[in-house]
Amino acid sequence: MIAFTAAEIAQLTHGRLNGDPDVTPTSVVTDSREAKTGSLYVAKPGEHADGHHFVHAAFERGAVLVLAERKVVDAHGSPYPAVVVDDAVLALGALAAETIRRIRSERKLRGELFTVIGITGSAGKTTTKDLLAGILSTTGATVAPQGSYNGEVGVPLTVFNADAGTRFLVIEMGATGLGHIKYLADMVKPDIGVVLMVGTAHAGEFGGVDNIARTKGELLEALSEHGTAVINLDDARVAAMRPRTKAKVLGFTASAGLPEEVGALNVFINSDGFPGFDLALPDGGPSVPVRSRLIGAHHVTNLLAAAAAAFAADIASSAIATSLSSQAAASRWRMERMEREDGVTIINDAFNANPESMSAALRALAELGRERRTWAVLGAMLELGDDSVQEHNAVGAQVVQLNISKLVVVGQEARALFDSAIKEGLPGDECHFTESVEDAYELLQNELEAGDLVLFKSSKQVGLRHLGDRTSLSPRASSPAGKD
Ligand SMILES: Nc1ncnc2c1ncn2[C@@H]1O[C@H](COP(=O)(O)OP(=O)(O)OP(=O)(O)O)[C@@H](O)[C@H]1O
Ligand SMILES: [Mg+2]
Repeated sequence: MIAFTAAEIAQLTHGRLNGDPDVTPTSVVTDSREAKTGSLYVAKPGEHADGHHFVHAAFERGAVLVLAERKVVDAHGSPYPAVVVDDAVLALGALAAETIRRIRSERKLRGELFTVIGITGSAGKTTTKDLLAGILSTTGATVAPQGSYNGEVGVPLTVFNADAGTRFLVIEMGATGLGHIKYLADMVKPDIGVVLMVGTAHAGEFGGVDNIARTKGELLEALSEHGTAVINLDDARVAAMRPRTKAKVLGFTASAGLPEEVGALNVFINSDGFPGFDLALPDGGPSVPVRSRLIGAHHVTNLLAAAAAAFAADIASSAIATSLSSQAAASRWRMERMEREDGVTIINDAFNANPESMSAALRALAELGRERRTWAVLGAMLELGDDSVQEHNAVGAQVVQLNISKLVVVGQEARALFDSAIKEGLPGDECHFTESVEDAYELLQNELEAGDLVLFKSSKQVGLRHLGDRTSLSPRASSPAGKD
């Protein structure tokens, strides 16, 4: 990380310093359990607990300074070395912004390039981030988020992993309201901004899908005229963002080869569910084959987005295609395929769920299982607000429309999905409703047969990813482990 003294931290965050001004932290943590010698511990009021209660624990583990919203004293009444600010999260953002400025100016002085790429969209951010980081790291030192870090805390923590040796910095940007992407984009000042799609996830929270589109487009508004806006032309709401940026626009599309844009030609899905296509880049050269190892046609969007962003970062087409063809899923529970000894195949996509990803996963299940008995084991999509019942109804209808053989709906929150599948004509013996994950497990243990293909999908909190893991063990070898 770029080093700041305690005095600089206080100055940059408009905070009050208590303690030695020359102390210079060597890492930043927001979880006291991750503190180590030299850490700056950021005490913020969290969802479940107030970080100020763990200052002592952080110092025990070697923290040298705390960024806090109030003075914290030890058992003897002496204050811990601290910078006290009004809002610790905003202070973290200010430090991240200064980190970016320093990296940029240090590298410029040395005549070295530094490229920041921001990625937003309602689905596929983490997948695209992983693919893009995979490509870029073949060319230069690349820093990208751990897991799905994409918010007002996760973005600064990612930035602190970069330093003057970093060539590419990839930032995932998530939002739950208007202004959130602007805040993150102003912090990291991306050179390249990627908008994947505008979905209906969190539409309730946002106050409608138009507000989601406004928010995602904030990334493009933040780009300068030297930047590149990488946009998905196959999503009408994203394509309509073109006038919202001063930057050069590079569109990508899987539906037709447009000479000025990035295109996927001859798209196909092989028998393993892996998409392939010929990547056409506006570089005057021939198209290059991409043969992905990610499951599902929806990943064509993510592969194209990563290719377009890499192209905007001056990576050669052959390097892009080679990297995209070699990368498998980098994170767990994303269309993760497991073969059971008895011939049952599990696809565990229950990392999280929203209407777009639910639909994509079901389409992949139907496609992959054309010759097999298919099972959709589904739980609720949470956080949909007023649209919840309607969206669950739509999933039930889609299960019927796609001709999925068997449906198992887990938990009352997903009841509407079950009811709508019945209403749409799924015979009663082909669908099951279970109150709990445990009941679903018992049912699957009894019912699954050799050759079955089983998809698990729900929001994270419903925990079907663990049910998928348990079910993927061979029937008799399974243990009661893996509870949520
Ligand atoms: N283009 C897409 N269309 C529909 N679903 C997708 C698409 N890309 C990925 N998904 C699915 O969406 C889910 C989440 O993918 P991913 O983690 O890449 O998205 P994300 O935008 O980072 O999500 P989050 O908002 O949870 O961070 C996965 O189940 C994945 O299979
Ligand atoms: Mg993510």
